[in-house]
Amino acid sequence: MMNFDTPIARNGTGSLKWDRRSDLDPFWVADMDFTSPPEVIDAIHRRVDHGVFGYAVPHSSLVETLQGYLQERIGYACPEEEIIHLGGLVPALSLAARAFGKTGEKVLTCTPIYPPFLGIHHDASMDLISVNHIKINEQWTFDWQALEDKVTPDTKIFLLSNPQNPMGRVFKDEEITQLASFCEKHDLILLSDEIHCDLILDEKRTPHFSALNLPESLRDRTITLLAPSKTYNIAGLGYAFAIIPNDSIRRRFTAVRGHTLPEINCIAYYAAEAAYKHGEPWRQDLLTYLRENRDLLTSTIRQKVPDANVPDIEATYLAWVDCRSLQVRDPVQAAEDSGLFLSDGKFFGEDRCVRINFGTQTKRLKLALSKFCDAMGL
Ligand SMILES: Cc1ncc(COP(=O)(O)O)c(C=O)c1O
Repeated sequence: MMNFDTPIARNGTGSLKWDRRSDLDPFWVADMDFTSPPEVIDAIHRRVDHGVFGYAVPHSSLVETLQGYLQERIGYACPEEEIIHLGGLVPALSLAARAFGKTGEKVLTCTPIYPPFLGIHHDASMDLISVNHIKINEQWTFDWQALEDKVTPDTKIFLLSNPQNPMGRVFKDEEITQLASFCEKHDLILLSDEIHCDLILDEKRTPHFSALNLPESLRDRTITLLAPSKTYNIAGLGYAFAIIPNDSIRRRFTAVRGHTLPEINCIAYYAAEAAYKHGEPWRQDLLTYLRENRDLLTSTIRQKVPDANVPDIEATYLAWVDCRSLQVRDPVQAAEDSGLFLSDGKFFGEDRCVRINFGTQTKRLKLALSKFCDAMGL
């Protein structure tokens, strides 16, 4: 079992999470306070020791590794030409807006949602339509009626986060199929951001259903976005990839890149390969650790602040806490007053909610939870 319990000092390492507000204890942006798998670190060392860092291409064993990953984990036999290598997923969201939308046309998504989903339409001078998720049988899902009511003839793209950030839902095959059928009916590109799909906390109970698992006729309008960055904690290296099965969609997507994207960093390619090739035992240990942190967080908040609403977290190391039924008016400020730096729900499209990152040492989480519950009980 890997040891995730040892605290690692991250202040002063140029860390967005730790250095943005060094006066506060950070539980916000989605990276974890753990070192990456030793095999990833070794692969980076080997590439660095070579000493020459010229322009890179995705080397053949990386491509084979990605194809192996797609086959084994997602059950998709991916031809090499369908893979588009990227320096990050957020640029891919922006590319899609520019490729498939024009001024005044619409991007559709459901809230609460990872903040860039609510901003990328600006890159194409498009407009945003957002529809709240609804709770049915204690589970957050799509509001099909509201989606039908709000979609317009000039809506071009649906942005999906699956597993869902920030609510930690793993959408079922029926939900994804219904969503893809909705996209077909309204002629939308389905952009499926699956960056968190290897962070499903109980894969037997809530298996991942990728857009790549859709029947071919529906899959043909999808762009699936994947990356090793969240799972193996290498977001700072910048590597992600898109799978685009349809030739003409793929051509439009790559055409808008123009000269806007930098070359992908030569070290990131090797880290990605090592993560997918050798990271599985580490990932299993990580999931065990995260499950315990998730259970600690949900049971503590539900017990101490019963009016706060924490959904069942099926995936990610992020907890969405809805504080709207509490007395506390500004939960983010109240948390800051007690020394904690959390993500503010308003950037996800929902005021008076917070997101807590529990990808950290249990001891540190425990202390933070105690402060958080005290602050929310004010
Ligand atoms: C749903 C989702 N997409 C994309 C990203 C970021 O991707 P990248 O760092 O590759 O741009 C995140 C990071 O938290 C995320 O949660």
